[in-house]
Amino acid sequence: MSKNRISEKLSTEPYKGVRDFYPEDQQFLTYLFSTIRGVVERAGYVEYHASVLEPAELYTSKGADNAEIINEQSYTFVDRGGRQVALRPEMTPTVARMVAARRRELAFPLRLYSLPNLFRYERPQRGRLREHWQLNVDLFGSRSPLADAEIIMVAYELMRAFGASESDFVVKVGSRAYIDHVAQENALSEEQTKKLLGLLDKKQKISEHDFSVGLRELGVSESVLSPENPPPEVVELLKYFGDAGVGTVVYDPSVVRGFAYYTGMVFEVFDTHPDNTRALFGGGRYDNLTALFEDASPEGGVPGVGFGMGDVTIRDFLAVRGLLQPYVPPTAVYIAVTSPDLAVEAQALAGTLRREGVNVAVDFGEKKLGDQIKTAAKHKIPRLIVVGENELATGVFSIKNLETGAEEQVPQEELSRYFNTL
Ligand code: HAM
Repeated sequence: MSKNRISEKLSTEPYKGVRDFYPEDQQFLTYLFSTIRGVVERAGYVEYHASVLEPAELYTSKGADNAEIINEQSYTFVDRGGRQVALRPEMTPTVARMVAARRRELAFPLRLYSLPNLFRYERPQRGRLREHWQLNVDLFGSRSPLADAEIIMVAYELMRAFGASESDFVVKVGSRAYIDHVAQENALSEEQTKKLLGLLDKKQKISEHDFSVGLRELGVSESVLSPENPPPEVVELLKYFGDAGVGTVVYDPSVVRGFAYYTGMVFEVFDTHPDNTRALFGGGRYDNLTALFEDASPEGGVPGVGFGMGDVTIRDFLAVRGLLQPYVPPTAVYIAVTSPDLAVEAQALAGTLRREGVNVAVDFGEKKLGDQIKTAAKHKIPRLIVVGENELATGVFSIKNLETGAEEQVPQEELSRYFNTL
């Protein structure tokens, strides 16, 4: 092979900013999804799904204007028919479209969840990738403050189900409606209101001085945006959580969220550990999004409230808290053979056990017994059976626990019961 051929070899790296999911990673995702399904389905949410491809206009139409996501972060392409297509950067416009399409048939309040993968052209960094999986939980058809409270409570219950204690995280609640009110009181133009939102959004990243100067330039008094001064709707929400014995919900006027569609309560959940500064959850109330679509009624859209929670940030959270479960393969037992001649008998034994409900992987006998055992250990398979002449003659097999080294003699007809009652 020429040098040239070697340099032409393909990289084993995945595309920049996306991940390969080896079994350990996939198992985490499976754990995450099943824990999530348990919590949200207990609260009455049902699962939906959609294609990763959307017409790009879903994100570029006027009402859907979310500058950063569209202009800088979208993956778009032109298909063979000349259509502008986007890989979905978020799920909210999709679910709003789906709800708008069937608004006459659907019953409200409607509780929906989904576990889509999303694509954003971001600079890859801790907590930020170009593809992530995001739980979306949304409640449609209610303007009640109790719907806002329910959505935050679902986020809280998820954190508890992941094993977090209250001091591990904080739910920061803000209000877009209140910012609009402040803008109105101060006669801010649309442009100035955007500036105010931007200033609040940046608050944690800039100095107190710069923040004060920014507010002064807009003629907005700092006291109306102080954390000690929650607007009445937030006071009500905080009281609800106080009464429910939840101590992790606080008012933070700097939580405004980057999306243009939010109209009311907005919130983010943060890790209290200094290593994880990115929001774990983000969401809020959006009462006009479904009005973008032709099937919406003239009096406006179906009100919505919900959140997104990503797999990358929650994994970072669980890692720093020591809450990640060790990898355990689904395989209960590995069958090794003392000689390749016995591989067929090993297959037969595996077949019998599988029909009786045991997850079995079998070796083909191409390596020495010691290496077969190493393979089983490397795969983290907890138990091993060696098939040899002796075992086949007596019908009694030794089951080795690869973690402790302990061995047990078990007759063949009792093997499946042994594994099924572990
Ligand atoms: P978001 O704040 O853009 O909101 O994303 C929600 C969560 O998804 C973030 O807090 C983070 O956990 C995760 N996330 C977002 N972007 C990335 C990324 N590039 N890499 C890794 N994780 C990421 C929304 O997307 C709204 N549509 C949520 C929503 C649903 N609002 C109402 N309903």
